[in-house]
Amino acid sequence: MTKVVETQSKTPDSPKKGLLDVTEPFFKVIQKRRSIRRYKPYDIPDADLEKILNAARLAPSTNNSQSWRFIVIKDPEVKALLGQPSPQRFIANANAIIVVLGMQQTSCCPGNQARWHVQDPMIAAEHLVLAATALGYGSCWIATYESRPPEFIQEVKTKLEIPENADIVVLVALGVPDEAPAPRSRKPLGEIAFREKFGQSWYVL
Ligand SMILES: Cc1cc2nc3c(=O)[nH]c(=O)nc-3n(C[C@H](O)[C@H](O)[C@H](O)COP(=O)(O)O)c2cc1C
Repeated sequence: MTKVVETQSKTPDSPKKGLLDVTEPFFKVIQKRRSIRRYKPYDIPDADLEKILNAARLAPSTNNSQSWRFIVIKDPEVKALLGQPSPQRFIANANAIIVVLGMQQTSCCPGNQARWHVQDPMIAAEHLVLAATALGYGSCWIATYESRPPEFIQEVKTKLEIPENADIVVLVALGVPDEAPAPRSRKPLGEIAFREKFGQSWYVL
């Protein structure tokens, strides 16, 4: 006989109750976020961009190395360049594009250095995306740069004066949404979350 567990962490007598009363808005932001690829023309104010960038700055990183750097692009000519040579033309129509860089580390942390300088900026990028959602902007990750021709990457790096020891990890397109896509499906929790060992469903005790 299996028992289905109902998980509820916030009970009235929870010792955590009242410590940080952002639970509902936080989960709403997570739930509302979509990848948005159509944008209304809009000049995102610097104040909003700063909030978004500050959210990224507060991300955790390996040994606090903060190997990320961000370049905010609004220049239409540069946006058009970033949208080449790709079928993803929507990039050029974003209100702003944040180029997320990873600085190659030489003495940061044990283990796979090459991994940290990508992994940490990726975490920061998700902070960017969630902060943008919280402010009402749409966003889209664009991580296909890796697969673009090296000469194109070099052209972008030269144009943006990105130093040799920095890699373009991801672009985040931002803008006022001009579409409201339905949520894309996700695998059910029972398929991806396990209790104590791989394959043992979270739902079964
Ligand atoms: C690492 C990463 C790379 C992505 N790269 C692209 C991309 O190059 N182009 C694109 O249109 N969407 C890209 N996406 C967005 C995904 O397609 C999208 O998150 C996924 O389909 C789920 O849809 P949702 O974000 O609306 O929930 C990327 C997302 C992630 C996390």
